[in-house]
Amino acid sequence: MTVRGLGIDIVSVERITKAMQRPGFLDRILAPSEREQTLSPQRVAGRWAVKEAVAKALGTRPGWHDVIVVNDLSGAPEVHVAPHRLPPGCRVLVSISHERDMAVAVAQVVGPP
Ligand SMILES: CC(C)(COP(=O)(O)OP(=O)(O)OC[C@H]1O[C@@H](n2cnc3c(N)ncnc32)[C@H](O)[C@@H]1OP(=O)(O)O)[C@@H](O)C(=O)NCCC(=O)NCCS
Repeated sequence: MTVRGLGIDIVSVERITKAMQRPGFLDRILAPSEREQTLSPQRVAGRWAVKEAVAKALGTRPGWHDVIVVNDLSGAPEVHVAPHRLPPGCRVLVSISHERDMAVAVAQVVGPP
């Protein structure tokens, strides 16, 4: 597998906290399955950061709902990217971290050379 793209994003939790008070914000940013989780502002900020990091890694702007974050049983995040947004044979790896005030995510597109 070859690294085909890399992206990073950092997000202010305060900014997301304010945005979460706007009607429709969460529906726009998060897919229905993502909205089923407990949504602390830190977690939402992490989701936002992942989606922006994936856009940077892909070099395109997928729709917000084309990049869906799930946590595996250990809590590690995985992204499901809509196949039509991915180069053939590629997948995307992500990592998220958040503190009280900031969230950060990195994304890496890997695939055939
Ligand atoms: C899993 C672990 C790494 C999470 O660390 P943390 O400081 O609580 O996590 P952060 O606050 O930085 O980030 C939280 C995000 O980490 C991600 N995460 C959670 N569990 C994870 C795991 N097992 N693997 C990878 N990422 C994980 C999630 O995306 C989470 O955000 P979300 O729940 O909103 O999706 C930590 O609990 C742990 O077990 N550390 C092992 C300690 C250790 O062995 N250290 C020595 C390393 S050499």
